[in-house]
Amino acid sequence: MDGQTAIVTGSSSGIGKAIAERFAEEGANVVTNSRSAERAEAAAEEIREAGGSAVGAAADVSDYDAVEGLVEAAVEEFGGLDVLVNNAGHTITGPSEELAIEDWQSVVDVDLSGVYYCSRAAGQRFIDQGEGGAIVNVSSMMGHQGLHKRAAYCAAKAGVDNLTRTLAVEWAEHDIYVNSLAPGYIRTPITDQTMETAGYDTEDIQNRTPLGRFGTLEEMAECALFLASRNNFVTGEVLTADGGWTAFAWGSKGE
Ligand SMILES: NC(=O)c1ccc[n+]([C@@H]2O[C@H](COP(=O)([O-])OP(=O)(O)OC[C@H]3O[C@@H](n4cnc5c(N)ncnc54)[C@H](OP(=O)(O)O)[C@@H]3O)[C@@H](O)[C@H]2O)c1
Repeated sequence: MDGQTAIVTGSSSGIGKAIAERFAEEGANVVTNSRSAERAEAAAEEIREAGGSAVGAAADVSDYDAVEGLVEAAVEEFGGLDVLVNNAGHTITGPSEELAIEDWQSVVDVDLSGVYYCSRAAGQRFIDQGEGGAIVNVSSMMGHQGLHKRAAYCAAKAGVDNLTRTLAVEWAEHDIYVNSLAPGYIRTPITDQTMETAGYDTEDIQNRTPLGRFGTLEEMAECALFLASRNNFVTGEVLTADGGWTAFAWGSKGE
């Protein structure tokens, strides 16, 4: 990724921060992002301290004007844009018959519309530049499965995966690669919130996962790097990185 410019949305913590750091290690100029200017800049500062090139830019991905500003910030700072990682996301849980309409809307706004908004703004830029580009959408294995009290999140993430296919098909003629990365359980604040409200714990997740553990932030960053690289003929694909969770139907390990 030497000399390429990448925006990583939601890179003030967790998976997005790990992706931003990994891309910077590979020589990319990275625009880190958060809803807060301070948190975006703190992530960028860490990258610069480690010898990388980064600038922080605040934007709520569910606000289209702010998203256009994010792409403009990349272009102003680094002269262009090559890669977008749509990682920002959140979840609000509750029984589907009671989930507040504004909570449903908030999850769909950030987790699905935010992905479209950022892709739209970056896609325009890629097409104008005429040199292609790569979009990596961080969805979730929960886009392939149902989980209690997660209607908005599961629906939004499923939507992201089919948005990935649609944009990949539509923008292939511009050499724009679009793929999803669908993580399984990775230890971050979102997972802790999920475990608290879903009624299962670390051991339950380890037992349910064929590889017997959570995935790591570094592993997710490696997957994102592969999908961002545009040297692999892979587009319109969903890379599920879940330690075998979705391959495994149900039951004991057979002892
Ligand atoms: N952890 C897992 O096990 C797991 C599994 C499957 C999928 N995922 C997906 O992976 C992505 C990252 O999750 P994570 O686990 O790393 O969570 P996290 O540590 O909570 O990070 C979420 C990031 O998104 C940012 N963010 C939230 N709402 C935003 C908005 N409206 N606009 C811009 N940025 C926003 C947060 O920044 P600020 O709070 O600073 O604004 C933060 O940087 C999410 O899309 C999540 O659904 C995670």
